[in-house]
Amino acid sequence: MHATLSETRQREKLDVTIHSTAAEASISLAREIASLIRNRAAEGKRLVLGLATGSTPVPVYRELIRMHREEGLSFANVFTFNLDEYYGIAREHPESYWSFMHQQLFNHIDLPAEQLHIPNGTLPRAEVFAACHAYEERIAELGGLDLQVLGIGRTGHIGFNEPGSGRNSRTRLVTLDALTRRDAERDFPGEDKVPRHAITMGVGTIMQARRIVMLAWGEAKARVVAQAVEGEPRESLPASFLQHHPNVTVMLDSAAAAELTRIKLPWLVGPVEWTPPMAHRAVTWLAANVQRPLLKLLDEHYAEHGMADLLTAQGPAYQLNIQHFNDVQHTITGWPGGKAGADDTHRPEKATPYPKRVLVIAPEPSDEMLGMGGTLTRLVEQGHILTVAYLTSGSLAVPDEEAEMAAELINAYAKERGAGIAGDVATAPQTGIAACGAATDAPAAASATAQAAATATATGPATSASTSADTRRLKAVIRRGEARQALRCAGVSPAAARFLDLPFYERGRYRQFFPGEDDVAALSQLIGEVAPHQIFSTGAGQEPNSVGGICHALLMAALRRARTAGTLPQGARLWLYRTPDKAWQPHEINMAVPLSPAQLARRTRAIYQHKSQLSQTPPPQSTLCEAWQVAEASSRNIAVTYDALGLAEYEAIEAFQRVDVAGE
Ligand code: GLP
Repeated sequence: MHATLSETRQREKLDVTIHSTAAEASISLAREIASLIRNRAAEGKRLVLGLATGSTPVPVYRELIRMHREEGLSFANVFTFNLDEYYGIAREHPESYWSFMHQQLFNHIDLPAEQLHIPNGTLPRAEVFAACHAYEERIAELGGLDLQVLGIGRTGHIGFNEPGSGRNSRTRLVTLDALTRRDAERDFPGEDKVPRHAITMGVGTIMQARRIVMLAWGEAKARVVAQAVEGEPRESLPASFLQHHPNVTVMLDSAAAAELTRIKLPWLVGPVEWTPPMAHRAVTWLAANVQRPLLKLLDEHYAEHGMADLLTAQGPAYQLNIQHFNDVQHTITGWPGGKAGADDTHRPEKATPYPKRVLVIAPEPSDEMLGMGGTLTRLVEQGHILTVAYLTSGSLAVPDEEAEMAAELINAYAKERGAGIAGDVATAPQTGIAACGAATDAPAAASATAQAAATATATGPATSASTSADTRRLKAVIRRGEARQALRCAGVSPAAARFLDLPFYERGRYRQFFPGEDDVAALSQLIGEVAPHQIFSTGAGQEPNSVGGICHALLMAALRRARTAGTLPQGARLWLYRTPDKAWQPHEINMAVPLSPAQLARRTRAIYQHKSQLSQTPPPQSTLCEAWQVAEASSRNIAVTYDALGLAEYEAIEAFQRVDVAGE
């Protein structure tokens, strides 16, 4: 017996469509928009579109551009209104929503310039109120919004309507939430550069649109989406007000849908097919839910939580308990590369070959340390041959202040030695700078660094770091130094490091990356050279346009290619390590590597070497903000979860999920 669709959606108060990928969902929205435009054009009428910024709508815009170029879709009869704009930055600023919309859409279509509207973030304070009013008037004058496209922020905001925004709020000046500003930190290197205010359409303005489509991709949005869809409408989560609108569709990819009850706990909303993974998921959830170790679950616990049919088919409780306890037990290993000579029937990784060639992939430097620093140490201690590949340089995540500081140091050192800058920096590796990680690898890079240093000090601080290639180069050098130092700290030779500097990252900026064939080629070459028996990587559920999401897609493409070309050893396994965005549930873990207190402390020291990644502002008391704190807390949490299930009590655990790539 299967659950009906309406039965499984009983908790959803908004119309939700789940697509397997963001690309597929985006194409379906772009088609809807295109047919609205064409229908209106055929009637000689205009279409008024409400548009959004952020990474989320980018694939929709790319599809609209493609339709314009290849299918003759014209925007001549379209009027657009953007939701919001930062207040206090010029239109020309690379991070203004004005720039964003032009780069991502307007520059590539035939929308007449006088038909697009974006709130003006440069008006004097005294003129803002009137301008907001005029914005609303203009929407009304054109007949109101036909379709509003929305993303959702991690605070549950729509537009910039932060928690606390009223159901009837109108276009106005608002103060940005601390979490929203943190999320924008990467765009404006350095939190103090992130604008504090913005102008946004109100919730009431958005609600007047005739139709609303809200989009969300990636695991980081899953929780807030579920709250907006299944929770009560409330000011603390403005997206939940959409429940009051008669024509809303929420389009999700599978990662963003993961916290909806029908996906997460399907047995609570209807009958399910009790496959082994489904049973494992339900039993481990049940133990956590009734707060009992697995071996102490009773028949009535099963019966009272939508699992009576599981009990009948596979029970009694005693039988189910022991089976799923053993399944969790078998995920635990101190031998992440497999234990040579041991029976591996119930071990997560195979005993042979030994030693293994292990390829560890870090989308950005520090990802590997945050997700699996303790495991790296073990793999080396157990004799495996490690390559740690840093796919991107990570330069975009370095605040300008760090680069200025490095530039000053290099110049001061050059002056001290009384020599020419370039020559001096070029010799730095032999003279001691290398030891503290500020120097370069090769003379060519060294002279680029010197140039960056010279530019930074001659012209003063860069207004936007990412606009200067030299500054980005210097920032990349900083991150390489930190990555090597962190590896040393974890007991891994820095010679294991490979820096790929993938082109999509070097030519892009956050939310605006275009991965290409050159990226896949670079990764395929790496896989061919290393010929790994075991691969560790991350980013599977991340937003598809994020660095982690792009790197995961590139890796999968390169692995498919390697498998076809025969450059991937038979039986090679891919293990995913976690990102801090998502806490894995026990059923999602296929390998759990315990860390002792000393091993955890060592990993934290290693993470700490990524000093350019520490917050620029001290975090508010009792808030876990720094990456090393978050990583420590999440590894401890997994240990607590295992302990609560009745497994051994460890200090911390690093968790891994197995993904099938080799077609075993
Ligand atoms: C900003 C924008 C929102 C957007 C949100 C999410 O706050 N003002 O309109 O929905 O970011 O951004 P992203 O799509 O990059 O996750």
